[in-house]
Amino acid sequence: MSQILGIDVGGSGIKGALVDVETGEMITPRFRLDMPQPSTPAAAADIVQQIVKHFNYKGKIGIGFPAVVKQNVAKTAANIDKSWIDTNVATALGSGLNDCQLFVANDADIAGVAEMQHGRGKGVMGTVVFITIGTGLGSALFRDGKLIPNTEFGHIRLKEGIVGERYASSSAREKEALSWKKWGKRFNNYLEFIELYLQPDLILLGGGSSKYFEEFKSKITIQTPVEPAILQNGAGIVGAAMYAATLNS
Ligand code: BGC
Repeated sequence: MSQILGIDVGGSGIKGALVDVETGEMITPRFRLDMPQPSTPAAAADIVQQIVKHFNYKGKIGIGFPAVVKQNVAKTAANIDKSWIDTNVATALGSGLNDCQLFVANDADIAGVAEMQHGRGKGVMGTVVFITIGTGLGSALFRDGKLIPNTEFGHIRLKEGIVGERYASSSAREKEALSWKKWGKRFNNYLEFIELYLQPDLILLGGGSSKYFEEFKSKITIQTPVEPAILQNGAGIVGAAMYAATLNS
């Protein structure tokens, strides 16, 4: 059995677990620590070190990171400290972890890959859009099961300069104290744009808020089938470990 540590870095918390990358299952409980504010590279590295120590782990680590990531380098920073831009995330988070090799990709891409291989997206052909609802809105786009990375659909402009994730993320819901129904209407409005531009065959929802799907599903009226992901919040960790498993340092 091949076990790899998967870590999901989010705007408000960092969580990790050991994953059996063959079955796509977490084999330990998740260990979560708050993301320090400001969420600088040094502050986040300290948290990642605590997570690695908690699992007493050596070896490959997969990291899902909430930004555009190219060759381990962060290119954007919407819900994290701006100093991440152009930082090599693997180097920054791996400082002090001499017995580990870190592999980094966008958090939603990584979670989407896990959901496509081990969850609701298994074997689904055509265009699938996976949206994670959390501090921000993350996206992963698949065509016949193949990922097109770094899509960033959480940042599409809806109207009059309103950015998708500022309007329909979990943090927008919390900040404006919206009921699930009121927020669901907004989220449906956001999905109308996804539908218009991408004409997907299926939309899957992941991230923390997706487990409340029953609370807002009556407000989702677009034509495209919309379903909650099966792996839900675990997908970020499982996908991160799967990502590391496929790469060599
Ligand atoms: C970031 C994305 C990320 C998403 C979810 C957005 O603000 O721009 O890269 O996938 O949040 O964390």
